Amino acid sequence: MAGRPLSCGRLATLTFAAVLLQIIGLLLFVFGFFPVNPALPGISGAESYRMPTCDDSFETDNGNLLPEQLGSLYRDMSQIPSTFDRIILMVIDGLPAEFLIGRGDQPSQNSMWEAMPYTHSLLSKQRAIAYHAKAAPPTVTMPRLKAMVSGAIGGFLDVAFNFNTQAFLDDNLLDHFYRIGWKLIMFGDNTWTKLFPSLFTRDDGVSSFYVKDTVEVDFNVSRHLEAELAASDWKLMILHYLGVDHVGHIGGRHSLLMAPKLKEMDDVIKMIHIHSSLNGDDHGRRMLLVVVSDHGMTESGNHGGSSYEETDSLAVFIDLQSQSPIYAPSMRREVFQKCCYYHT
Ligand SMILES: *[C@@H]1O[C@H](CO)[C@@H](O)[C@H](O)[C@H]1NC(C)=O
Ligand SMILES: [Zn+2]
Repeated sequence: MAGRPLSCGRLATLTFAAVLLQIIGLLLFVFGFFPVNPALPGISGAESYRMPTCDDSFETDNGNLLPEQLGSLYRDMSQIPSTFDRIILMVIDGLPAEFLIGRGDQPSQNSMWEAMPYTHSLLSKQRAIAYHAKAAPPTVTMPRLKAMVSGAIGGFLDVAFNFNTQAFLDDNLLDHFYRIGWKLIMFGDNTWTKLFPSLFTRDDGVSSFYVKDTVEVDFNVSRHLEAELAASDWKLMILHYLGVDHVGHIGGRHSLLMAPKLKEMDDVIKMIHIHSSLNGDDHGRRMLLVVVSDHGMTESGNHGGSSYEETDSLAVFIDLQSQSPIYAPSMRREVFQKCCYYHT
């Protein structure tokens, strides 16, 4: 045998070096692949409306204001009159924006193009405005909902917690609505009640566990619509429909169940729109309907990754009482899902 046999001491050193190298490699991978996501502590207050200055002597003490006082303090500080008094946030889980508004400037080649006629007519009459809202990976429900309400995209490890959701403690919109005295109600995917266990005045959580069910998951949401549209106490109503996502998981994008399911979603939008139009300005209250999807889906109906098909989610804004067309401030139709940045 050529070369000297390894002495015990050299072998130990080599082994130690090899193990150390592996540990360094593993650490590099873990911190590179799973970005650490430092959450900013605390919650923003009225001072967020001020221009940033070096002088930090300005301290707003809004800790002991009543909710209504806090609301009007925010209104005064922002100097923006509020256009809407109530919001309906309708989440259609897994709906690719392409189904409704095509890809790029092309109408979708997809057979789904005609599946939402009422929403299409609102868009073509400029009663609604639609965006491709780019979702950040991981394209699964819980991190996407967190991104929408907090504006932070979260870490990759969120996937691991997707099924075991903890209450959401970061600064977020829903908590702020609650703090200014809004009544919030929620019907649909119970991820919302897990994230916000004590926020909703009324809720009916649907478990996304029954992936094979495409009927009851949506029926359990829609059954509340009539009564809640007639109720006047709430300020934010969340509807989270899981059916489209479940149809995708069963049969992919081109499932025979997809077109009827999209039509069902279209009928919900139609019902809300007609109900609100009939009620005029709804006792002086103007209502905004926001239709979003949390993520898209691949051809085979999966999601989680960062392909165009999975990140192409939807954001549609419908002014429910306005009779005049909406003029969009920009022709860019691609935004980030997490917040109000434009793609540059
Ligand atoms: C729908 O509601 C019924 C009655 O409240 C309940 O038994 C059922 O489990 C719900 N379905 C789902 C999918 O959550
Ligand atoms: Zn989802």
